[in-house]
Amino acid sequence: MNRQFAIDVRHGLSQSPKSLSSKYFYDERGSTLFSEIMKLPEYYLTNAEFEIFQNQGVDLIQTLGIKKRNYFELIELGAGDGYKTIELLKVLDHENFKYQYHPIDISQKALDQIESAINKQFPDKKISTKKGDYFQMLTELKSSPYPKIVLFLGSNIGNMEDAMANTFLKKLSESLSEGDKLILGTDVKKSKDIILPAYNDSQGVTRDFNLNLLERINRELDANFDITQFVHFPEYDESEGVARSFIRSKISQDVTIKAINLSVKFEIGEYIKTEISRKYDDETLDTICHDTGLKIIGKLMDSRQYFADFILEKQN
Ligand code: AVJ
Repeated sequence: MNRQFAIDVRHGLSQSPKSLSSKYFYDERGSTLFSEIMKLPEYYLTNAEFEIFQNQGVDLIQTLGIKKRNYFELIELGAGDGYKTIELLKVLDHENFKYQYHPIDISQKALDQIESAINKQFPDKKISTKKGDYFQMLTELKSSPYPKIVLFLGSNIGNMEDAMANTFLKKLSESLSEGDKLILGTDVKKSKDIILPAYNDSQGVTRDFNLNLLERINRELDANFDITQFVHFPEYDESEGVARSFIRSKISQDVTIKAINLSVKFEIGEYIKTEISRKYDDETLDTICHDTGLKIIGKLMDSRQYFADFILEKQN
């Protein structure tokens, strides 16, 4: 049994309102469902960011201000399949930049995928994959005397509440030296007509992804959630720029989670908070960067202006 999962489930379901952390979406089934989400027509985020990396690599390198003669470390947090980054590596290699790519992920499967994709594209390139916690890995890399470029893509920062994002950037900044850069992928604030369908697709993949949290509790903690009695409930608040997902109980019901000896009561219509997906503009990011030592020095957007990769610099 995953002890932290057990502790967090007990805590989250004993609170009012009930909540479960979105970091638990990604077991094997959840990761497969997320791969499917990235291919959905409604889920524009992945394609939009890929377009930026595919078409604007040269601009990106220019904004980063790296010099061909200066070796640097390229560190990716939560690299996933590394698909977008490979587009950047193509340009860097073509232009003879000197660097080492360090993808970091908690999933060994993801790291194996990246390694084989890179070996296929660049037969002579050596990469150093690192499995584990972001900050542990950043601390290890801190001792390197070379300039660093950190990638945190895919709007992964969107899963953090603003205060948490601020703390995260502060911690990240502490692992950097003056002049180091961060490429931060963020989904842009826009109309509800575009954002909400990305979290409520017509094929129901996002619904399955959200409800998989309950199925995971059934599998790993011997619980008896009847997922036909729960519904996926997403919303987007345009004025705030925040998408939130919930799981709503259709009926009044009791659920037993045997492995942690917990009985949970749901009222009819009661919600479990499962995910926040924050959307950004310059002002929001500026606020979140407050006191982190990181300053926005550039921004690249896709042709529809749906997604933005911000370039931040560590300043002192
Ligand atoms: C991986 C956090 C960027 O919030 O858009 C996709 C996860 N959730 N569909 C997002 C997700 C529902 C995704 N991130």
